Parts: sequence; structure tokens; C-alpha cells
Amino acid sequence: MTQSKDAAANAMWGGRFASGPDAIMTAINASIGFDQRMYAQDIAGSRAHAAMLAAQGIISDNDAKAIGEGLLTVLSEIEGGKFTFSTALEDIHLNVESRLTEIVGEAGKRLHTGRSRNDQVAVDFRLWVRDQCDAAIAGLTALMKAFLAQAEAGTDWVMPGFTHLQTAQPVTWGHHMLAYVEMFARDRSRFEDARKRMNECPLGAAALAGTSFPIDRHATAKALGFDRPTANSLDSVSDRDFALEFLSASSICAMHLSRFAEELVIWSSAQFRFVRLSDKWTTGSSIMPQKKNPDAAELLRAKLGRILGATVALFTIMKGLALTYSKDMQEDKEQTFDAADTLMLGLAAMTGMVSDMAANRDVLRMAAASGFSTATDLADWLVRRLGLPFRDAHHVTGTLVAIAEKAGIDLPDLTLAQMQAVHAGITAEVFEVLGVDNSVNSRVSYGGTAPLRVAEQVARWKAALG
Ligand code: ARG
Repeated sequence: MTQSKDAAANAMWGGRFASGPDAIMTAINASIGFDQRMYAQDIAGSRAHAAMLAAQGIISDNDAKAIGEGLLTVLSEIEGGKFTFSTALEDIHLNVESRLTEIVGEAGKRLHTGRSRNDQVAVDFRLWVRDQCDAAIAGLTALMKAFLAQAEAGTDWVMPGFTHLQTAQPVTWGHHMLAYVEMFARDRSRFEDARKRMNECPLGAAALAGTSFPIDRHATAKALGFDRPTANSLDSVSDRDFALEFLSASSICAMHLSRFAEELVIWSSAQFRFVRLSDKWTTGSSIMPQKKNPDAAELLRAKLGRILGATVALFTIMKGLALTYSKDMQEDKEQTFDAADTLMLGLAAMTGMVSDMAANRDVLRMAAASGFSTATDLADWLVRRLGLPFRDAHHVTGTLVAIAEKAGIDLPDLTLAQMQAVHAGITAEVFEVLGVDNSVNSRVSYGGTAPLRVAEQVARWKAALG
């Protein structure tokens, strides 16, 4: 970063300024430190704009050619690390345009015809966020495939299902894994949906009111891969909904990541031992040699804090802003960049961990069979076979659970005599429903945990994900 162009009034808009800005003014005002990240989008937008200006006869073909080639030179300078970004030139837009003019001379000064930095930043940022939607969609697809592979491997592995983190009913591993496929599928559709809505081009709205030059906004929209130009110039330069939608979808997605991260932390603990994470996804302790810490899962549990923070920040920035552009809106970028980086890293890390984790099937099965997990099956049997009203069946079962708990045994370990003492009608057939396999096999309702249903869902997702 250099201050060399700082000496006098700004070369780009200094006509009515007698002196340059205070150094602190420059420091608070400049965005080049972070918005240089949008260099490729800025150059793509400018190339589309220049080509359109020439096609409309607003600038000459020669000027457009010089601009187009000059911008490619700027691009390669930036990508080759040879470009000197200047704080005095405020932002990526002025940095690129100034360097372009150094390279191609007069023609460079014609680039800004019929355009403003207000529509320029709107199009740059939209292109950048659109790319991030694509990255999120790809990252989520990979993650869904990782969960799906786990589901397919363990369609009928039995594990405890929880409510309140208390053993509730036996479920299948495949069923639990597919719960996350559903969650991340909703996330993916949110990014797809947001992408569709944001795919309108604000370029050509100019400062706020449009322009008197005979520009062709449909042409620039098409060149930049948008479905159409935005329809209201005031809205075009003041809208940041696309970033808010991206951040909102990212927050929900990060919340989902944090939920599986928490399960991984619990499941990989010595007390649970439901899964093992390999050395690739754990760290050791500097003092306790036995430790294998699930740091990546813990970090993923925390990352929502940053992403949600960025979301709240942008809502707060946009709240109450009168139309149209205000400099407040320059604060839209840094945290969106950070949130996007955090999300993409999080998706990749979670995909790695899900692919890596190995379920301890025996431990899962033992845990599924303890904690009176088939108590509901017993109550349902009393309803089905003895015709008890469910509320009464619940009471009988509760009494049996209390007896078993007191004796330090599980439900299948009670004798028939002990059961009949609570309800005379109970027969030996009841023992068939107290096993965990019978329990999961019986839950065949649509969306239920029976391996049969889970296999159908695995097949559906395999067809959908390829
Ligand atoms: N750096 C500015 C931003 O990020 C670009 C737009 C500046 N527009 C203006 N009228 N000063 O918002």
C-alpha cells in the first residue's frame, strides 16, 4: 500500500478540492485494504461496461479495445503480485481505473461514462456474493454425500435416539445421518434460492437515477451472467439484500454445522465412545498423553458466532438507511468476506470429519438397549394386544420401569411373573417387542427409523445426489 498519490487533491475527483484529506480521514475512508478482494469482479464489470459503451456508439471501438486490453493487463498485474494498491485512491474501483489510465492513457478516462461507483460496487459485490453462493452449494453437496455414505453403510445399525439428551427410543444410524442430509439440503436450497433472486444486474443504475447516455443494460446484464437488469435504479444502488440473504442462509447452515459438531464432541468422548475420529481430525494434549481432542468439531461448534455476528452487523448497518447509497454501506464487505471464508472452511472441515468418523457399532447397540429404550414398545404392545387405553398402558409401563430401575436391570431382564404382578394380562409374547431390532424394525411409518424406510430414503438421496 502506498500513500504516494496523496500529495494533492484526489486525481479522480479533485476538481473542487483545494487540498488532500487528513491522514485519519484517509484511514477511515479507504476500503482498498479489503475490497481489493473484488478485483476480478471489478475488472469483469468494467470490461462488460466498456464493450457495451462501444456497441452503443458512446465511446469508440478503439477506446473500448484499449480499455479491454488494459484491464487485462491490470488483472495480470494484480494476480502476479505486481500491482501497488494505493490508499489515497480509496477503493478497488479507483485503483483499477487509475492504473488503467496510466497504461492506456486518454481512453482509460472514458471508462466511467454513464456509470458511478455506486452501481459499480453494487455489481462487484453482487458478483462476489453470487460466487460464494456457488461455493456454498458445492460445499454442501459434498457434505451431503459424506453423510449419505455413512447412512448407506449403517442403514440398520441400532443406536439410541435422544430427546433432552436422555435415551428415548432406539433408532438407526442411517436414520440419524439422513437427518443431517435433510438439514443441509434445506441449506443448499436456501443458497440456490438466494442466488436466483440476486441474479439481476445493478450496473447502469449509475449514481442513483440512471443515465442520459443510451446505454444497454440488458447487454451488460447478459455479459455478466445475470438473468436481467434490475428494474429500479434507486433500489439498485441501495440494495444489499443479496448479502443479507447470503449471510442469513450461512447463519442457518453454520447453526446446523454446530449441532453435528456438538454431537461429535459428545460421541467421541470416553464416556460415550459412539464414534472414533482418526488422528487427522484430532489433536493431542501437551500434558495429558491419553488425550485426543476433537478440536475441529469444537471450533465448528463455535464458528456460528462469527457468521451470525456478521449477519447482525449488516442488518444493523442497513437498518434505517434512507435511500439511496450511503457510505455506511461500505461496511458491508469485511464481515461478509469473513463469514464466507468461515463457512467454506467449516463445510470442508465437516465433510472431512464425517468421511473420517468410524462408528463403534457394538457400543451404539449396547447404548441403544439400555436406559429402558423400548419402554414405548412395551406400552404400544399393551395397547395393541390387551386393548389398554394408551394412558393406562403408559402407567403400567412406568411402574415396570421403576421396578427394573430399582433392581438395577433393564426391561427385558424382568421375569414374566414380575410383569404379571403389575398387569395380569401380560404374556411371554411381550419379550419379543423389548429387543432393539424389533423396536426399530417396527417403526415403518413414512419417515420413520425402520431400516426398510431408511434404505428407501438412501436410494432417493443417491438418485438426487448422483
Ligand atoms: N468503496 C465504496 C463502497 O464500498 C464504493 C462506493 C463509493 N461511492 C461513493 N459515492 N463514494 O461502498
